[in-house]
Amino acid sequence: MEPSPTSILEYWNAVADRYLELFRDEMRAKEFDRAILTEFAQQLPKDASLCDAGCGPCGHVTRLLADAGTRPVGIDIASRCIALARNEQPQLRFEVMDMAAMAFAGASFDGLLCYYALHYEPKNKLAALFAEFARVLRPNGSLLIVVKQGASEGWIDDPLGSRQKVYWSDFTSSELRAPLEDAGFTVTRTEVRDPLPDEIAVRRIYLWARRSPRNKES
Ligand SMILES: C[S@@+](CC[C@H](N)C(=O)[O-])C[C@H]1O[C@@H](n2cnc3c(N)ncnc32)[C@H](O)[C@@H]1O
Repeated sequence: MEPSPTSILEYWNAVADRYLELFRDEMRAKEFDRAILTEFAQQLPKDASLCDAGCGPCGHVTRLLADAGTRPVGIDIASRCIALARNEQPQLRFEVMDMAAMAFAGASFDGLLCYYALHYEPKNKLAALFAEFARVLRPNGSLLIVVKQGASEGWIDDPLGSRQKVYWSDFTSSELRAPLEDAGFTVTRTEVRDPLPDEIAVRRIYLWARRSPRNKES
């Protein structure tokens, strides 16, 4: 059985406080990630509008994007994540929203980041999800997806120790590339790094893409 948006948000509402406790300071040790996220933000137009899709309870990535000169909004499907992120980063904007069905108008953003938030989606939903990313991005808008590399999909024991089962997908770059291209993106850069000593021991993929200058229908 595949996860529903409700099962994803119930899981994240339940583990949000624990996640914040564990990962509030994680960006300090992630020099490569800080550099690549800053580069992503800084190649956008000045004061770019940017969506941090699946921002989580820490809001630290949204903060980094703001510090790099953009106007980000962090969205998350779980209301507890958004309550905590607002508390952590009171100057920033956060909204409860499913990234698969966003309440934003078309072409709202210059950029969209999806940082470790794709893992809870079944792989057969990627095409629809990337079409939604394309809808909210402006023509030529930039997308950065960061995921753990792998080839698995299915229910696993919660790595955060909640004793729940969690639906987990990890990805190869080619698995992401095909639905991205179908949604009208051109993949412009792919980087892979080894895990840091304190991280789960799998490689990490950073996939940059540019939205088509035209809408699909036109
Ligand atoms: C591993 S956490 C990463 C959070 C944040 N990006 C970070 O690195 O600190 C994954 C987050 O994605 C969110 N998420 C998962 N599926 C989502 C969806 N369909 N729409 C919005 N948020 C989603 C979860 O609620 C969770 O907060």
